[in-house]
Amino acid sequence: MAYKAKFKVWRGDAEAGELHDFLVEVNEGEVVLDIIHRLQATEAPDLAVRWNCKAGKCGSCSAEINGKPKLLCMTRMSTFTEDEVVTVTPMRTFPVIRDLVTDVSFNYTKAREIPSFTPPPGLAPGEYRMRQVDVERSQEFRKCIECFLCQNTCHVVRDHEDNKEAFAGPRYLMRVAELEMHPLDVADRVAAAQDEHGLGYCNITKCCTEVCPEHIQITDNALIPMKERVADRKYDPIVWLGSKLFKR
Ligand code: SF4
Ligand code: F3S
Ligand code: FES
Repeated sequence: MAYKAKFKVWRGDAEAGELHDFLVEVNEGEVVLDIIHRLQATEAPDLAVRWNCKAGKCGSCSAEINGKPKLLCMTRMSTFTEDEVVTVTPMRTFPVIRDLVTDVSFNYTKAREIPSFTPPPGLAPGEYRMRQVDVERSQEFRKCIECFLCQNTCHVVRDHEDNKEAFAGPRYLMRVAELEMHPLDVADRVAAAQDEHGLGYCNITKCCTEVCPEHIQITDNALIPMKERVADRKYDPIVWLGSKLFKR
């Protein structure tokens, strides 16, 4: 049955903004993005929102709903009671461009700082061989839709703007871990994770994992194993010596 929901939507730009109240129709089966689209079609035609697939796959519609980082297109209205106020705000960690749209270029900068897959010199593409177990290990990480909800949530940058320079964030530390687990990659990802991408800032609060819409076990399967590799390198003299001799 259709009903009218109370919405508060943040509107503004980089300079200033505030929550605007709306009373808007909701129909059975709708998600929060449907409601935002209805607002655009009725009361707020210039309301800015970024979206693309409406299927939880493009990672564009990230925002905060009642203070929780979520995809607008994957948050069902049926998760709220009919008299609940639904508050929609832009991701807090990134600069606002307008309304619900933020500038997520921080993430692209961090992505570019990670050297790409580095196979052993002289190995031609047709000679790459991997065991199935190695393929499966990184499969989980490749489900990432780059919604940046984990990046938005991690307190290391959410609450400390000045850490952005030194900290790649969970999504990109996971990328470093993925490459580190690749049996053919010869770059020294362990040293880079700690020294260049700020792995040491992560104190494994797991908030990143909790908000991931793809349910990737970012902390347990990427960040903690990477931290263990760093600790092995630092405190095990044989591993340390091996790393100096063989660059791994
Ligand atoms: Fe989004 Fe999960 Fe990828 Fe982070 S790891 S960007 S939360 S899909
Ligand atoms: Fe941040 Fe995730 Fe680590 S939330 S502190 S990167 S476990
Ligand atoms: Fe693509 Fe929501 S619109 S993930």
